[in-house]
Amino acid sequence: MLDPDWPPARLHVVTGKGGAGKTTMAAALAIALAAGGHRTLLVEVEGRQGIAQLFDTPPLPYAERRIAVAPDSGEVYALAVDAEAALLEYLELFYNLRRAGRLLRRMGAIDFATTIAPGLRDVLLTGKVKEAVTRVRDGRRVYDAVVLDAPPTGRITRFLNVNTDVAGLARVGPIKTQSDGVMAVLRSSQTAVHLVTLLEEMPVQETRDATEALAAVGLPVGAVLVNMTRQPMLPAPALSAAAAGELELDRIAGSLASVGIDSDLAPALAGEVAEHALRHDLEEGYRADLAELELPTYELPMLTPPMDLGGLYELAETLRAHGVAHE
Ligand SMILES: Nc1ncnc2c1ncn2[C@@H]1O[C@H](COP(=O)(O)OP(=O)(O)O)[C@@H](O)[C@H]1O
Ligand SMILES: [Mg+2]
Repeated sequence: MLDPDWPPARLHVVTGKGGAGKTTMAAALAIALAAGGHRTLLVEVEGRQGIAQLFDTPPLPYAERRIAVAPDSGEVYALAVDAEAALLEYLELFYNLRRAGRLLRRMGAIDFATTIAPGLRDVLLTGKVKEAVTRVRDGRRVYDAVVLDAPPTGRITRFLNVNTDVAGLARVGPIKTQSDGVMAVLRSSQTAVHLVTLLEEMPVQETRDATEALAAVGLPVGAVLVNMTRQPMLPAPALSAAAAGELELDRIAGSLASVGIDSDLAPALAGEVAEHALRHDLEEGYRADLAELELPTYELPMLTPPMDLGGLYELAETLRAHGVAHE
């Protein structure tokens, strides 16, 4: 059943600390939202071919292609946006400059634009995403939802807000219209920026910082996805006892001996348990910190590596069990 707190957006931007699982979560989300006969587009913009790796397919060209199916005839398409190709597309779209674009490329001018001016690069990338979100064919939206595997938390606000600066520079004309159009979509309830985090100090801190930075420029924060969580190995009373250093060594030694294990291992084992219990206490603290953000929060389990396609579908199922779905 749909979680009423899950934002009914059509553009889902997935950010987070590098390595926390942005690409994995974005892909799982694209599958979860496609379930039930929807069509979703999973987009990457960092030129890493992370989607192709995850789905075990050859590198994606600058073209949308179906890479997976979802339960109940859902379809997931994928696109690796390339800034240079996006620039050529724009020149043609707005100025009918296909030939000039090709010439620029031959002269190396486009390389210049995309490597030297990161702002321009981000304008092109966000513009392409907006185009996919709003694209209509035969009076119907082409994609029910678009999921963006976005830059990390440290860069996300600037990345999404880049068109504000551009719109400020150009007062009239197609560039201003274009930039205003992108910001109108990104700032609307059509968009939700989700934060992937771990139950660790730095990712939690970055999540808090990003939430503030996004809200400050009027970008809609969606949900917190707490990735790679682990079930405690002991029931709560045993964990508290271990954390307080109150484990009974004699009983542990006795239990070990009774199953034929050297009872001298008891202190080392007790040490491990105490460490596990302290780690659990810390994690509970981070859960409390995240709860203060008052955002819909979903936990995803740490799966046994290596992460494969089966694992990805498992994470998508977990999201669905949390009520994450396209309305
Ligand atoms: N829930 C999970 N359980 C186990 N491994 C995970 C999980 N989520 C991500 N991973 C693994 O963690 C690593 C980083 O994930 P990735 O999605 O590439 O992160 P990012 O895009 O943020 O850099 C990858 O090896 C991925 O397979
Ligand atoms: Mg990634």
